[in-house]
Amino acid sequence: MDPRIEKIVGAVSTVRDLLEGRKPIVGIVLGSGLGKLADAIQNPVIIPYRLIPGFPLSTATGHKGNYIVGSLGGKTVIAMQGRIHYYEGYGMENVVLPIRVMIRLGIKSLFVSNAAGGVSFGLHVGDLMIIKDHINLLPNPLIGPNMDDEGTRFPDMTRPYDPELIKLAMQLAGEMGVELKQGVYLGDTGPSYETPAEYKFYRTIGADAVGMSTVPEVIVARHAGVPVFGMSVITNEAHDEYAEDYENDGEDVVKAANAAADKMTKLFIKIIENI
Ligand code: HPA
Repeated sequence: MDPRIEKIVGAVSTVRDLLEGRKPIVGIVLGSGLGKLADAIQNPVIIPYRLIPGFPLSTATGHKGNYIVGSLGGKTVIAMQGRIHYYEGYGMENVVLPIRVMIRLGIKSLFVSNAAGGVSFGLHVGDLMIIKDHINLLPNPLIGPNMDDEGTRFPDMTRPYDPELIKLAMQLAGEMGVELKQGVYLGDTGPSYETPAEYKFYRTIGADAVGMSTVPEVIVARHAGVPVFGMSVITNEAHDEYAEDYENDGEDVVKAANAAADKMTKLFIKIIENI
């Protein structure tokens, strides 16, 4: 067997054993500082990544390393409290392993969230941005022999983020009085933040927000035909015009994400209720 498949199958089997018959139908990835949503999951089973054979451990600030499975918005969900980033030094295969496991467990949609810098002048700290498209500047996780059981060699990326889920989110946010922006997310490797020239470059090529995650997970979900909903919490104004004493600080990012997490949590629950 393909060793990559063997690893996925082994992890799925361990997770399934720990789920005591629960069948998650929605997958959620919680970004930096957004782990709070996990507290809203009822009757949770917590599965630390370290109990799963072959699983990488999340080392990033603001990230724990657990799957949390339970009920949210009346559905059984599996949430990743802590994702794996390419900048942590894991190969792409490991970065996307937890997503492939959720797909094999049978999720019917994937909700991804992240903290991101707003390169568009229209985005401000604390804004929620629906990801309507992305630009990938990370290695593509599908490079290598295609895993035909997961999906096709050349997956269509015309609609990477599900138009129906975006429509539903806009409608529900309107009813809830939550303001949502929409934009293009650019994923790069990090871990250094971008220079002013890079922020300007990204804005020029069509990005609205930039971060160091998400895109590989979305590619793998789309490879498997799983619809995706994505949201960025804008934690810093990533502009090339900034105050003389301005510093781009990881702690500020986690703080701003915490403040916006409540809004995002309520919205995610409402969307999940309505799918
Ligand atoms: N750049 C990259 N990743 C980020 C940023 C940023 O400005 N803010 C939060 N995550």
